[in-house]
Amino acid sequence: HIFIIPTAVYGPTVLNPFWLIHDDDWDIYSFHINSTVTSRYATTVITSRVANRMNEPKEIEFHVQIPKNAFISRFRMMMDGQVYDGVVKTKEQAQEQYTRAVSRGESAGIVRSVGRTMEEFKTSVTVAAHKKVTFELTYEELLKRTHGKYELQIYARPMKPADVHIHEKAGVSFVDVKGGLSTKALANAITKTHAWVHFYPTVDQQKNCDSCGEEGMNGDLVITYDVNRDNGFGDIKTSDGYFIHHFAPSSLPRIPKNVVFVIDRSGSMRGRKITQTRTALLRILNDLAEDDFFGLISFDREIIHFKPELVQATALNLEGARDEILHCVFLSGTDINAAVLEGARILNEHPREGSASILILLTDGDPTSGVTNFDTIQSNVKQAIAGKFPLYCLGFGFDVKFEFLEKMSLQNNGVARRIYEDSDADLQLKGFYDEVATPLLTDITMIYVGGTNLTKTNFSQYYNGSEIVVAGEIIDNNVEIFTPQVVAISVRFILTFSNTNGSVDSSVSDGFLQRVWAYLTVKQLLEKELLLSGPEKEKVNKEALELSLTYGFVTPLTSMVVTKPEGESSEIHHKPKEREEPLPQSYHRSPMISYDQRRRFIKSFSGRSASLSKQQKYQTQINNFKIKSVELIISFALILYLKHLKHI
Ligand SMILES: *[C@@H]1O[C@H](CO)[C@@H](O)[C@H](O)[C@H]1NC(C)=O
Ligand SMILES: *[C@@H]1O[C@H](CO)[C@@H](O)[C@H](O)[C@H]1NC(C)=O
Ligand SMILES: *[C@@H]1O[C@H](CO)[C@@H](O)[C@H](O)[C@H]1NC(C)=O
Repeated sequence: HIFIIPTAVYGPTVLNPFWLIHDDDWDIYSFHINSTVTSRYATTVITSRVANRMNEPKEIEFHVQIPKNAFISRFRMMMDGQVYDGVVKTKEQAQEQYTRAVSRGESAGIVRSVGRTMEEFKTSVTVAAHKKVTFELTYEELLKRTHGKYELQIYARPMKPADVHIHEKAGVSFVDVKGGLSTKALANAITKTHAWVHFYPTVDQQKNCDSCGEEGMNGDLVITYDVNRDNGFGDIKTSDGYFIHHFAPSSLPRIPKNVVFVIDRSGSMRGRKITQTRTALLRILNDLAEDDFFGLISFDREIIHFKPELVQATALNLEGARDEILHCVFLSGTDINAAVLEGARILNEHPREGSASILILLTDGDPTSGVTNFDTIQSNVKQAIAGKFPLYCLGFGFDVKFEFLEKMSLQNNGVARRIYEDSDADLQLKGFYDEVATPLLTDITMIYVGGTNLTKTNFSQYYNGSEIVVAGEIIDNNVEIFTPQVVAISVRFILTFSNTNGSVDSSVSDGFLQRVWAYLTVKQLLEKELLLSGPEKEKVNKEALELSLTYGFVTPLTSMVVTKPEGESSEIHHKPKEREEPLPQSYHRSPMISYDQRRRFIKSFSGRSASLSKQQKYQTQINNFKIKSVELIISFALILYLKHLKHI
């Protein structure tokens, strides 16, 4: 069942007795996910209590997935009344600790990226006979608004009990819960300020999970919601000398757009990729309004235009474009430089007052013909666009150098997105287009008189269904002087938004907004760092690192280390990057085996189902995974190498 019950009438959490997972040797006697969303900032705590029922020490594993966009902020283990807290350190310090442990031949854990939106956190600890261990992992993320909603994704495989509390001062306009057990009647069932999603599936329900196999979901719990908005200015919250402003007006006229698609048709796009791209483009063309203009360029080592200039989205032009999309030839080579410059030329030569221009590049490979040097392409493109419109880069599949696309987008006020090669790639493409399909404002400047240390305040375009978020400090916490204002262009008018009713929500607890500010600042510094070089890059890097350390965020610049008290032997858990450089030699001395392998090994080791070859095969691992001593045996140092979402 999923119950949505107002916080006030619901009592304490009672664990569902069906949730006892029993194994021959150990029990997860409690697993719980608790997520609190306050003002779009989600803090999720995953707690697992495991008992070793055996008469001998046993390695027990904790294994969860977290959203790629999130920062882990706490990890703790409790054993025998002792608490081991993770400490966030610089990568170098953590690496040093890791290397020391590895050189002693101790085993390594692993955390890796899985799927589109999640990454995996995995660690294990050896627990003495008849003892228990509690794992507790906390991560934080600011939910992004796209397509008119916020989305919170929670790992719940196999389905696990979860409580989600949503606190939005303005009230929740809808909550939708998807997952193995969603009930359709649930949608729109709630219009309360505080929502509580209570997810406690029974064993039968787990077996009949109707959408567990669904693309991109696999039984995860996905909660989407939006908040009520009553004025164009949005909500502003202040507390403790910090503020956060959520700006998402929707009752504005759409701005006609000029959109140019630059589509890769190199040989590697042949087959399913081009079929899906066509499907998406045809649907996109259908959605263009008659006052929109468009351009269509396809490229391999040569460029083919639909028309050499921007054309209006009339029925006739659209028909011609559809034909063009359906008949294209494939050559080898990928001249990204020439194609993007051509796209920029088309937009530059056709300025239309009161419109919004957008350039969209779709490619599945690196530049291989024409100019191929990344830096040269980036500087050419930057010069051609000159800040006049955003460039969005879609990287199709894994053969693209995503960092190159990402940097190029960020240099031109856009974003890069990965399109995963999957049966729904056409939906991913269309989904991305829909995010930018309805520009409502251009040249947005967020002004905060009396504010300082602001996150990004200038935005080139604002699209319906999205949201602009700015956080900052209020100088001397002087809320009297603090005056927020937004200035932007809507079609042909300059609009000014101000906090007309002067309402400021100061109900949030102390320190909370400061944390949100830190999260947003770190995220933006990490993006900014990509665009810089030399001493400037170092400066930004240092700032991001300091904030990560101060607020205890595990970012691409930091690692979390959990160490046991001095003097005891330690075990290390390491999280390598996907497609990383080869692992250091010492790593191979302690190969990581999968959970299944380990289980098989443990079974074979205890002589139940062992074949000789298996035992031989695992001989080296025996040395590493053999139980090391008596009582509370091993603790560990845990190192996480978390990748930034966009670097994956
Ligand atoms: C923007 O989105 C809102 C909510 O979905 C919708 O009511 C409104 O019509 C949209 N505006 C435009 C110009 O499409
Ligand atoms: C801005 O932040 C920095 C460090 O985070 C701090 O040292 C400085 O005092 C802040 N500036 C103001 C004006 O508060
Ligand atoms: C933001 O835009 C305003 C006005 O358009 C401009 O004066 C200001 O310099 C811009 N700030 C940044 C950081 O680009």
